[in-house]
Amino acid sequence: MANDNDRFFSHKTLEKNIGLMIIASITVILFAGLVQIVPLFFQHSTTEPAPGVRPYEPLELIGRDLYIREGCVGCHSQQIRMLRAEVQRYGPYSVAGESVFDHPFLWGSKRTGPDLARVGGRYSDEWHRIHLRNPRDVVPESNMPNYPWLAQRSVEGKNVQARMIALRRIGVPYTDEQIEQAPQALVGQTEEDAMVAYLQSLGVGVREAALRAQQAALETDNTAAEN
Ligand code: HEC
Repeated sequence: MANDNDRFFSHKTLEKNIGLMIIASITVILFAGLVQIVPLFFQHSTTEPAPGVRPYEPLELIGRDLYIREGCVGCHSQQIRMLRAEVQRYGPYSVAGESVFDHPFLWGSKRTGPDLARVGGRYSDEWHRIHLRNPRDVVPESNMPNYPWLAQRSVEGKNVQARMIALRRIGVPYTDEQIEQAPQALVGQTEEDAMVAYLQSLGVGVREAALRAQQAALETDNTAAEN
């Protein structure tokens, strides 16, 4: 057997030479990182929209930008974890394919308030308006700030077309027609309208698709039982 001491590249050399050890460690970690990250750019589960997920409508898109401007993400997450308690409270857990049209994503990491990934359709538009102007009017113990200015500012004339073109460049499939008609969707709307439209869109498509799949499964079960 060859003597380890004689070889240039032995474990001994590596373990005794801290510079070499650092370089080798970094190389290994970089490679392992690539192995983990690179496939995500090509996997369908992370690059294709989940069933029911569609690009944001112009008004929703503006609402999303306002959500970012107002810092809502600092108190609200948009990711439901696989824990039983979360699924019971918020609905089906989030999957990567729900965020393919989110640039940047708004998963958040803090929940001073509840998760909002599936808040669409949970309340009426009117509830949201009252809640945004003064949360304590509907939830007395709330410590969410008031956003009364949203109702006073118009979104007419916002550069929605430029935003849609930029998003299309990074993969959101807006058509020329959608972009052309976008400014019309903002006519007469306020920032509050946009925010409510955005909130009411959250998680709705995914929930409906899940329901349809459930019904289809039930129907196949029934036909199988009849035969
Ligand atoms: C300082 C933290 C904080 C910030 C910032 C904040 N919220 Fe909240 N939010 C809360 C808390 C706490 C609740 C729970 C009590 C309530 O319903 O008011 C809540 C509740 C909500 C709910 C109801 C969720 C549910 O399922 O009942 C919505 C919708 C909401 N917030 C939207 C927003 C939007 C939109 C913004 C940004 C304009 C925002 N929040 C900013 C703390 C915050």
